[in-house]
Amino acid sequence: MEKQNNAHLSWDEYDELRDPRPDNNAFDAVVERAVSRRGFLGGALAFGSGAAVMGTGLFGSATSARAQGSTFAFQPIGIATDFDIHVPQGYQWKPLVRWGDALFSEAEGAYSPENGVQNDLADRVFGENTDGMETFVDGDKIILAINSEYANPDINLPAETQGVPQSAEQVQILKNIQGVTVLEIADQGDGYQVVVDSPYNRRITHETQMTMDGPADGSDLVRTNADPEGKSPKGTMNNCGSGKTLWGTYLTCEENFNGYFGTTGEREATEGEIRYGIGGEGRYAYEKFDARFDLSKEPNEPNRHGWVTEVNPLDPQSTPVKHTALGRFKHENAEMVQAKDGRIVVYMGDDERGEFIYKYVSNGTWAEGQPTDGLLSDGILHVAKFNDDMSGEWLPLTPETTGMDIAEMLVFARMAGSKVGATTMDRPEWIAANPLRVEAYCALTNNKNRGVKPNAGGDETPVGGPNPRETNKFGQIVRWRPTGEDHGAPDFTWDLYVMAGNPSVYDNKYAGSNNVNEGNMFNSPDGMAFSSDGLLWIQTDGDDSNAEEFKGQGNNQMLIGDPKTGEIARFLTAPHGAEVTGLTWSPDRKTAFVGIQHPGGSWPDNVGKPRSSVISIWREDGATIG
Ligand code: FEO
Ligand code: CA
Ligand code: CA
Repeated sequence: MEKQNNAHLSWDEYDELRDPRPDNNAFDAVVERAVSRRGFLGGALAFGSGAAVMGTGLFGSATSARAQGSTFAFQPIGIATDFDIHVPQGYQWKPLVRWGDALFSEAEGAYSPENGVQNDLADRVFGENTDGMETFVDGDKIILAINSEYANPDINLPAETQGVPQSAEQVQILKNIQGVTVLEIADQGDGYQVVVDSPYNRRITHETQMTMDGPADGSDLVRTNADPEGKSPKGTMNNCGSGKTLWGTYLTCEENFNGYFGTTGEREATEGEIRYGIGGEGRYAYEKFDARFDLSKEPNEPNRHGWVTEVNPLDPQSTPVKHTALGRFKHENAEMVQAKDGRIVVYMGDDERGEFIYKYVSNGTWAEGQPTDGLLSDGILHVAKFNDDMSGEWLPLTPETTGMDIAEMLVFARMAGSKVGATTMDRPEWIAANPLRVEAYCALTNNKNRGVKPNAGGDETPVGGPNPRETNKFGQIVRWRPTGEDHGAPDFTWDLYVMAGNPSVYDNKYAGSNNVNEGNMFNSPDGMAFSSDGLLWIQTDGDDSNAEEFKGQGNNQMLIGDPKTGEIARFLTAPHGAEVTGLTWSPDRKTAFVGIQHPGGSWPDNVGKPRSSVISIWREDGATIG
């Protein structure tokens, strides 16, 4: 039998391999429930009648976008199926930084189209598979912090390896080409470019020394042979989405960390490992060459990953901090806002089928200029429960509510969420808070197991509420508005901003909500960010086959949504094979920076290997974008 090459699986497929959950034999009941929800769906998704359901003005200004002309400052574009980028008329784009571009002059020429990145310079160049990013300003300097989510072994290792590292040196290449990049950019009159050798430039890899804080710091669960005090973890991995603190630091979010660990010996998986998909063979064979990643030698090492990690991008000597108070799960991003009383609130999604949405609330308060000590280490983690009547509540995770010791509760936050009855969601990806009104949006990218299988903890995944379609291949965006217009409130009301679908193939709920039509359709919303003008930018990471149920949707794309009208318009199409992920702006908002991850073909160079890249987009007339 041919051996499975784990590195070639998508993260979603890897989840399934690690955790082949039994079919839920209560499927008939699920279908019954879906049918009984149809009336409710019609109300929730036809935005006008949603107002009647709510009895509030929440959806009062929203009407079907199909009946309206575009209100956006650009002409929406059609789909694409080629290996190029397309943006609306009047806009231009070019690469800002590509996988392998030098951050330091010693690494100039480290990348070649034939061989990729020179091994010994892998941590001196821009990392692969760009993802979340944020902009920072220090005086007249502009600094970007950018995640490199994972490495593609097929293009980083010699062809004869078939994408499986054969030595410690090859493992080291992969460790060094992912993590986080901090770099300075400057516009010398011809658009933004990387400032090579800037003192801000920095690479953070799987080997970078970190610290931890919060209740799990130093606990038995995070102690290892190499770090018996459990206070000095090494490395941040699978850095997916991002966040920016109100005090100007970077939050990088550790997502599919489980795939880096494996076992070289016989070992029975623990309940916690099963819930997080840890065990068996890792994706990249790290465990064969580095005992840190071998569960039979360091069973607690995985507990030191899956956190939100704070990096000060303005101080290249600073030590990143893993914040255990924010819980350990497959973090997508971290959206920080503030409660009315000044407490810090962080919204976070856990991207796996049937996992939860979380909200951290600090115990202390903060105002500009005050110390930030304890704000991300002393607080209460909550998990979301969505009710079918479009209300919802944040359930606090405490030793009292979960029956778990506080360190255990945070290291195994998923299990804590299950104990309090959180709502199983359709793969929560990015969460974005509207800067102009007190509400937040979460992309629920898709969930083929909705109504089919329980989650990895055995929690049922019934069809209903904000997850209204069984075998959900298109995804939706849920939004919630906290009671009293206060992000610190314990409850909220919710609706669906959009249900993606294909109205050219379906005339049922898989056609999508009223604001989806044949001209703007898409699948699998993932990255999201608001621009300062209150528009929601939506990036997709879905099926770009342009065939069967996805016919007419083309390559992955970036769209812009108006929260008030529900209108959605396509702004960008990615090269075939790529997902669009990561979005930030120059301080003057005249340039948008957009991440293009895992492109196909030979994009963007038209020669050699495909290169994940951040691109700049600007308006030809020099006006602001967003
Ligand atoms: Fe790394 Fe859930 O996307
Ligand atoms: Ca994502
Ligand atoms: Ca995704």
